[in-house]
Amino acid sequence: MMDLIETERILKLAIKNSENLKCEGEVASYIPELANVDQDNFGVSLTTTEGETVSLGDDKFKISIQSISKVIDLIMALEDVGAEKVFSKVGTEPTEYKFNSLIPIEEKVVNPFLNAGAITTSSLISGSDVINKFNRVMKKVSELSNGDEVTFLEEVYKSEMRTTDRNRSIAYYLKSIGIIEGNAEEILDLYVRGCSIGLNVRQLSTIGAVLANGGRSLDNKVQLVEKEVVKTTLALMATCGMYEESGKYLIEVGFPSKSGVGGAILGIIPGKCGVCTYSPRLDESGNSIRGKKVLAEISKTLDLNIF
Ligand code: DON
Repeated sequence: MMDLIETERILKLAIKNSENLKCEGEVASYIPELANVDQDNFGVSLTTTEGETVSLGDDKFKISIQSISKVIDLIMALEDVGAEKVFSKVGTEPTEYKFNSLIPIEEKVVNPFLNAGAITTSSLISGSDVINKFNRVMKKVSELSNGDEVTFLEEVYKSEMRTTDRNRSIAYYLKSIGIIEGNAEEILDLYVRGCSIGLNVRQLSTIGAVLANGGRSLDNKVQLVEKEVVKTTLALMATCGMYEESGKYLIEVGFPSKSGVGGAILGIIPGKCGVCTYSPRLDESGNSIRGKKVLAEISKTLDLNIF
């Protein structure tokens, strides 16, 4: 059991101690709509596996989850077609290349958290058409975030669809070498829709807590994600979730995490809690600068490093 009053004190301190980073970094603008947020937005939320949440700052703002959707894509692909098929198409190794690189694609994509990897896992999600598949994704996200309303950020979606030449080329390339099957445009569409899901920090930390709880709902009544799938997902989040910074981040913070260019970082501390930070200014790797600092600090003070 975590002491919630002490947790709140520590979160407040981490916010204060990261204030000097408030203006560092740039918001993502390659998806034009993402640059339309208040750059000073900040929120943090921690949810325990017992279902208690402490949140501070703007905990209502619907953040575009961007690459955090890759966690859901992976979970659904693993549940829908099984690990053997998924890992015949995407590997399990970290890479020093950027998240949107085309280089780490040979016979397979190097890992599921590169754009190419998530386009591949998206192609493995079951459903009769794109809308049916995306409705399944939204339902899963809603279940994992305690039944709360999940928002689809239509403007973010349209903005990315207009500018996503690189992902479009990745999708067609993957199709040309037989990694993805089916309609490349539809698979791209599903991937971009996932990136445009809007969740607040409380919803995201709740999803984290469910994964920290081995995939069981926080009232322990329902297995929402298969346990083996959770284990695989967390291992890959630890090794690949922060892109080419994953190793350095794991040393400094010490728990599985996934970032998105919307500015959120979702962290999972198995058996204890899920934690989410939101601050939209990013570093060169596409990770939130202030978010990383807050997570490093609370990891130390709350003793959350899993090693
Ligand atoms: O495909 C893209 O480039 C974005 N929709 C997602 C990238 C992203 O979030 C990388 N994260 N830190």
